[in-house]
Amino acid sequence: MALFQSSARAVPNTNPIPCHIAIIMDGNGRWAKQRFLPRVAGHQRGMETVREIVKECRELGVSYLTLFAFSSENWRRPQEEVSFLMQLFLKMLEREVSKLHENDIRLKVIGDRSRFDENLKRRISDAEQLTSNNSSLTLTVAADYGGRWDVMQAMQKMLQAHPERMNRFKEEDLEAYLSISYAPEPDLFIRTGGEKRISNFMLWQLAYTELYFTDILWPSFDAEALKLAIHSYRERERRFGRTSEQVREEGMQSGRTGD
Ligand code: IPE
Ligand code: IPE
Ligand code: MG
Repeated sequence: MALFQSSARAVPNTNPIPCHIAIIMDGNGRWAKQRFLPRVAGHQRGMETVREIVKECRELGVSYLTLFAFSSENWRRPQEEVSFLMQLFLKMLEREVSKLHENDIRLKVIGDRSRFDENLKRRISDAEQLTSNNSSLTLTVAADYGGRWDVMQAMQKMLQAHPERMNRFKEEDLEAYLSISYAPEPDLFIRTGGEKRISNFMLWQLAYTELYFTDILWPSFDAEALKLAIHSYRERERRFGRTSEQVREEGMQSGRTGD
């Protein structure tokens, strides 16, 4: 069973601070181009933003932060850029994991690891193991990740594990095999860089997530910009299929009982 209830089965609790924020970190290349720098300089600088946003999320009390670092489709980029990104990921693991651990942050990596080299694969599992009992923030890096890949691999595992349940599978059966089954669905999705698309990120889990798009390029995104996104999130009414009147009525009831 998945740890958290799906929004399709029960209306989730909504808090002023989103429990789970998922971000498409886009715009590194354009940030570099604007400064007449090579694209990879944008990726390098984007790492600074990752540090700042992880720190801020931990301070704000966000429990899960999921960052899209490399998509299944990003292998189509020029070979030099792909290997730079792999090197950057490796460096991040080498240099930052002890800091994450000191700050009680659990690191998880989701995606199809099969195309990574052995060294990177080993670093990933070592980092996950080292930080596995940390609980102040779960930082998930989606690398060689695609939402469609995730649904397919979950389906294959589910069918292999329970061939006898054919025709009787429920949504929650599949959710238990999705690569991020340890986290609730994202409350807030942010995409930087101005594009208004999902680009194969968390297709299943974004079903009821509040979407926020900003033109700010990822290397220029900062704690203030994150707070603006959270502010926008707070102003939304999350209905999950209900009417506005029902949402308000329920809010008043939970206010009266204090839960
Ligand atoms: C996002 O920035 C980082 C990755 C996809 C790895 P981009 O590299 O896509 O930057 P733009 O969209 O070209 O500006
Ligand atoms: C999405 O950004 C993937 C990541 C940020 C890792 P892209 O820049 O690859 O997305 P598209 O190609 O513009 O849709
Ligand atoms: Mg892009």
